Amino acid sequence: MSEILRIEDLTKKFQKKNLFSSDSNEVIAANKVNFSLNHGEILAIAGQSGSGKSTIAKLILRAIEPNSGKIFYKNEEIKSNSEELKKFRMRCQMVYQDPYDSINPRMTIQDIVNEPLEIHSIGTKEERQERVLETLRMVKLEPAEEIAKKHPHMLSGGQRQRVVIARAIVVKPEIIIADEPVSMLDVSIRAEILELMKEIQTKNKISTYTKALIAAISEPDPENLHKMKEISL
Ligand SMILES: Nc1ncnc2c1ncn2[C@@H]1O[C@H](COP(=O)(O)OP(=O)(O)O)[C@@H](O)[C@H]1O
Ligand SMILES: [Mg+2]
Repeated sequence: MSEILRIEDLTKKFQKKNLFSSDSNEVIAANKVNFSLNHGEILAIAGQSGSGKSTIAKLILRAIEPNSGKIFYKNEEIKSNSEELKKFRMRCQMVYQDPYDSINPRMTIQDIVNEPLEIHSIGTKEERQERVLETLRMVKLEPAEEIAKKHPHMLSGGQRQRVVIARAIVVKPEIIIADEPVSMLDVSIRAEILELMKEIQTKNKISTYTKALIAAISEPDPENLHKMKEISL
């Protein structure tokens, strides 16, 4: 199996200002984190709230800058403000925890899912429109033509999270980083969203769709248990 992502000694410290004095505390959110991810593999990072899971996700996409450490995509180091970073941001998509936070309530579903295609100048207007509908069907938002015209508030929580997933997979990424993708959803619909993510992951191993998934929620696979190791956050 070939390696797609490698994290080396990634460290992030935050200065926390004390509200009532001029003091500040240093919080080490990620401390020399190392791991690698192969094509088609699912890697789960588990840890209690505040242990640095979201920080690692943000560091990988360079939404925040690490204090030290390196990130490699297919053995090529991703540096900030580089051409490689631009390319990497298309190949690696994030599914956020909160569907309310990550989609614009004033946009239609069509525009929300189309946005990443536009940002990365993919296809003509017609091709983009077709790709959006195709992706809505893939996440089982049907009839896609009807859903595309709606606004987020007209959908249920589970449907909104499907929109978030559609937005992440529309650019055909190789890596999906899912930061607790179902923790804000009703317990009753968590299973179906996880099932959908698993289906997308498995299907795309065959074609060239999403090839790797970093999920914050996992089911241990008995065959992989021997491979489990602790990552210190
Ligand atoms: N922007 C920030 N400024 C200051 N401290 C932060 C910031 N983001 C996260 N932290 C701190 O870093 C630690 C890790 O947070 P986070 O990565 O969100 O954990 P998790 O996702 O595992 O719950 C926490 O102590 C949190 O308070
Ligand atoms: Mg978090």
